[in-house]
Amino acid sequence: MRLILLGAPGAGKGTQAAFLCQKYGIPQISTGDMLRAAVKAGTPLGLAAKKVMDSGALVSDDIIIGLVKERLAQPDCAKGFLFDGFPRTIPQADAMKNAGVQLDCVLEIDVPFAAIVERMSGRRSHPASGRTYHLKFNPPKAEGVDDVTGEPLIQRDDDKEETVQKRLEVYASQTRPLVEYYANWSKADPVNAPGYRRIDGMGSVEDITSRALQALADCK
Ligand code: AP5
Ligand code: ZN
Repeated sequence: MRLILLGAPGAGKGTQAAFLCQKYGIPQISTGDMLRAAVKAGTPLGLAAKKVMDSGALVSDDIIIGLVKERLAQPDCAKGFLFDGFPRTIPQADAMKNAGVQLDCVLEIDVPFAAIVERMSGRRSHPASGRTYHLKFNPPKAEGVDDVTGEPLIQRDDDKEETVQKRLEVYASQTRPLVEYYANWSKADPVNAPGYRRIDGMGSVEDITSRALQALADCK
């Protein structure tokens, strides 16, 4: 399975990615997680990306496309992969098309902006694994620590309310056009283009996983 999860910041891409990757036995390629790992490691990329991410803007297409191509060349991607938070601009999508990267399905998780601020303000993350929790909607088993490792959870620096607003604006202007891009491509060239499915992202985490699995079962 070669899959794109498309959706606004806080739509639940990372949360659903964990289930879907386990179900299909594929790696999760989250450009956000990759950038946060670079920030933590203090690499030159991390130092440059940190400022951009904290402002809510997007890291440059060239850097992101390079990172993803390098990741796709690793052997575990041969059996498939799930893109989480990528592509997020038309040039990023075009770069995959031009490189001949085959995709089976684009799955859009649709959540109204009004619900998103609450989701992000309650988010807590385990940086090493990318596992994500929510204080109210998806709490960890023990307060403040990761279910699997027992390590402390953190709040992302870009989850402050003003940064969230900026990220939503950036999504609306730069990423939402991909909805039409993939939906139109799928209609125009059903043989080569990935299938396109949109699911309602409101409801429990389990409800959304079952909607996703149902949508993916007949995506293409
Ligand atoms: P990235 O890490 O990709 O962030 P994002 O797209 O803004 O998405 P999020 O991770 O915030 O949300 P999510 O959809 O994964 O939601 P989650 O499952 O965590 O990018 C961060 C930054 O990196 C960007 O701003 C940019 O600067 C840079 N970047 C990354 N990729 C890039 C690219 N391709 N090009 C350029 N720049 C790039 O869920 C959110 C919360 O809701 C959690 O607390 C969760 O527990 C909760 N939740 C989940 N499901 C439900 C539910 N059903 N009901 C209630 N709560 C729920
Ligand atoms: Zn995420």
